[in-house]
Amino acid sequence: MRLSAVLPLCALLTLTQQRPCFTSGSPHLGFQAESPERCTCDVVSSEKAFPHQKLAALQKDASGCNSNVTPGQAFEMESLLLGLERRLPQLEKDVGMLEKENDGELFGALSLHVIENELFEIEQLMDKLNATSLADQELAEQATQQLQDLRSDMQDLETFDTMQVVKRQQANQRLKRDLDQCRSEILPPPKPTQLPKAPCPHGQFRNISGPMVYTAGEYPGSYKFGAWGRDPKPEPGKENWHWMVILTASNVFSHYVRQYSSLSSLIVGVSTPGNVQIHPTNPTTNTIQGPNVVMYGGALYYNCYNKDAVCRFNLTTKVVTSQPLPKGTRYNSKGNFCRLDECYPYTDMDLATDESGVWVIYTTNQDFGNLVLSKVELGQQPTIGQTWHTSVYKQSATNTFVVCGVLYATRYVDEKTEEIFYSFDTVTGKENFNVGIFINKMSPNIQSLNYSPVDQMLHAYSDSKMVSYKVLFQ
Ligand SMILES: *[C@@H]1O[C@H](CO)[C@@H](O)[C@H](O)[C@H]1NC(C)=O
Ligand SMILES: *[C@@H]1O[C@H](CO)[C@@H](O)[C@H](O)[C@H]1NC(C)=O
Ligand SMILES: *[C@@H]1O[C@H](CO)[C@@H](O)[C@H](O)[C@H]1NC(C)=O
Repeated sequence: MRLSAVLPLCALLTLTQQRPCFTSGSPHLGFQAESPERCTCDVVSSEKAFPHQKLAALQKDASGCNSNVTPGQAFEMESLLLGLERRLPQLEKDVGMLEKENDGELFGALSLHVIENELFEIEQLMDKLNATSLADQELAEQATQQLQDLRSDMQDLETFDTMQVVKRQQANQRLKRDLDQCRSEILPPPKPTQLPKAPCPHGQFRNISGPMVYTAGEYPGSYKFGAWGRDPKPEPGKENWHWMVILTASNVFSHYVRQYSSLSSLIVGVSTPGNVQIHPTNPTTNTIQGPNVVMYGGALYYNCYNKDAVCRFNLTTKVVTSQPLPKGTRYNSKGNFCRLDECYPYTDMDLATDESGVWVIYTTNQDFGNLVLSKVELGQQPTIGQTWHTSVYKQSATNTFVVCGVLYATRYVDEKTEEIFYSFDTVTGKENFNVGIFINKMSPNIQSLNYSPVDQMLHAYSDSKMVSYKVLFQ
């Protein structure tokens, strides 16, 4: 039996019930297109709570049948539940946001759309959970029944959200039509979602959390080198999308970006939008070389195959543009990150994102192998902007990332620990070799590490696992 894994969900739902989202007022949502320029949306949520009592019984049964769960089964179930766990608070948050948006702005319409998507994804997760449970012949009938009850309760919840909340207003029938009409008439100018104006809105980087997400993803154990993350400046409608690049040829080369419509899809390994291919051949001119790639503004930035250059692949147009780095830049595995006496092959170029955009970290002969940091300017074609020369030897670092214009470098301590030991502030030019922040690793090696300014997470690709940490500011 694998029902022990249901426990975290119970805990989650307990939590959900305590929050105000579904507990006050009467169900009510109105949507009007008042004029072609204005859409208003006001929502008061209802009293219906999560199906808590049923879950208590489930929890009791679950605790009775722990012993037969194999680690593999438990892991699969846990991944699915983690997916749900991530979805539900998000749903709650978005419904909460919708409640606040009665200010006549269009954003309400978009939020509603996002919530629809989330409900759909939760449904998919539930389906997968159901499939997993059915595949397990040992699962007691009673337990299966309870799981299905849970599913039906989830469906109630979904019905409650899509129907009841939406229904009550007399404009209910016209809601979707108005919404579509509204959207097509006056689609708001795509605002970069949460990119703050101030360069460092969160204060100073102080520490990082323990692992918040830890998943084997879609291809457990298959690709040792890769990267994953979330576009800090997503296109409208892709705010929750996550991406993954795995080096499918020789642990060095790749020729496509794999996309997931949400974090939970990535965790459970369901790639809905699928791949966007740079070229059918791998490797070839302008395909990906090395793991330290990033997505920004709907484009992938990476070290182009066999070149000392930064490539930008526009996922919409599928066009690649490239910008050479200065003469003397080390490439083709000549300027790598290293741990102890072992280097990570083809890590010559590390692309990074922060609040201000895209950076590239590399080294050159004239810098004697020390880290060099350049801003990547995002015009018609990416160009190399201002450049800073540090005094840290690239081979003494395992990876780098940028937060608020400050470069950070990591080094290998032991199998369980990586240290953020070095920083370089591009504003003051100040270097610090005593940062002393420790990363709790899930696997010995980190092949790529990048900061996501959208949610202040550090995304690591670590021996084929995907792990993320929350950056804590002061
Ligand atoms: C679970 O899946 C089985 C077979 O795929 C299906 O017959 C059953 O109706 C599903 N249960 C629920 C609650 O969706
Ligand atoms: C950083 O966080 C870890 C727990 O994640 C904690 O053990 C450590 O003491 C913190 N370090 C500092 C300097 O606050
Ligand atoms: C990708 O191409 C589209 C169409 O030309 C353009 O609007 C968009 O800005 C490009 N994105 C990037 C990141 O260059």
